[in-house]
Amino acid sequence: MLGNFEYANPTRLYFGEDSLGYLNVELPKFGQTIMLTYGGGSIKKNGIYDQVVEILRANGKTVVEDPGVMPNPTVEKLYEGCRIARENQVDLILAVGGGSVCDYAKAVSVSAYCEEDPWEKYYLRMEDVDNPVIPVGCVLTMVGTGSEMNGGAVITNHESRLKIGHVFGDNVFPKFSILNPVFTYTLPEYQMVAGIYDIFNHICEQYFSGEDDNTSDYISEGLMRSLIRASRIAIQNPADYEARSNIMWTATWALNTLIAKGKTTDWMVHMIGQSVGAYTDATHGMTLAAVSMAYYRHIMPCGLAKFRRFAVNVWDVSPEGKSDETIAAEGLGRMEAYMKELGLVMNLRDLGVTEDMLEGIADGVLP
Ligand code: NZQ
Ligand code: ZN
Repeated sequence: MLGNFEYANPTRLYFGEDSLGYLNVELPKFGQTIMLTYGGGSIKKNGIYDQVVEILRANGKTVVEDPGVMPNPTVEKLYEGCRIARENQVDLILAVGGGSVCDYAKAVSVSAYCEEDPWEKYYLRMEDVDNPVIPVGCVLTMVGTGSEMNGGAVITNHESRLKIGHVFGDNVFPKFSILNPVFTYTLPEYQMVAGIYDIFNHICEQYFSGEDDNTSDYISEGLMRSLIRASRIAIQNPADYEARSNIMWTATWALNTLIAKGKTTDWMVHMIGQSVGAYTDATHGMTLAAVSMAYYRHIMPCGLAKFRRFAVNVWDVSPEGKSDETIAAEGLGRMEAYMKELGLVMNLRDLGVTEDMLEGIADGVLP
């Protein structure tokens, strides 16, 4: 393990079919007013909303609703959430939804009492928080981002065509997250597979860096193998609890800071994918899928040993009698076949990218 590091993760997780009941344990720890934050309505259709509201009522909480968080939450919605949080002096933001809702909740938590424009402070100038932070709790309904156990909060500014993530510190991580795999059964297949690839790519972004022998890489290989197996089962049978639970747990560990330890990472697929997202508003996981194969084939010669190891340890490519280049290329070939098997979007055109956007997308990668 190279370098010096510190490790702690402040988020308490409750996992499993009965995990929502633990809201009864968490709610008494916070004040009276709860901001119930959610997306475009899926939780009303699948009944999660009713279950959560019943528990909030049973705990005697005052509920302030903050609905309508869109996928890839916008800066305008952030300003609206800040106003609701401030005017009602909320004591906890309870995010019920996917990464967009959880990210947005964290963005509101640091911005509600920010005296400057939060977009400029946190996203353009990347400054730290120096004002009171409202605690956040999550009930996760869509798996992929790891937002349930990290400090990430990605916000999109359509006017300036920028989609930027700020990774906040421990004080902004959710105080608790409830992970019930059954809540993910109603996800449309498109969202499910986009989330699966988001997880896979989070692991790749951290794995493809460094050449030292590093425990993080062995953990990553295990996570990838578990994900590949579980995802193949879940696309056949979305209600397979074992598969959905493994996907959910893998997602959390793929991006909760553990496998980044001792690594240097540049997150280049995500940087490009986010810039594509700023232009197209496409589903996050699909933006990553669309740029991945071209990117990994491009960088493979610079990290041949790692791509060879990936092929053998993750994709079971037999190395006998083959050159390192052949083995590495075979590994990427298997990865591409797997992505097609899941039904991922494999090129930018299918996401609505046109040639005139390319220069702007490139400029938005490192604004
Ligand atoms: O809005 P509703 O109606 O709830 O519908 C959502 C949304 O349309 C739907 N959905 C969620 N749970 C469902 C469901 N539909 C049926 N049944 C359920 N149980 O799914 C759609 C997508 O949800 P969203 O939250 O947007 O997806 P995801 O979890 O992929 O989050 C994407 C956002 O997270 C950011 C992305 O950039 C994007 O803005 N990321 C956050 C990261 C982090 N915090 O560390 C890292 C990631 O790399 C990513 O950048
Ligand atoms: Zn991602």
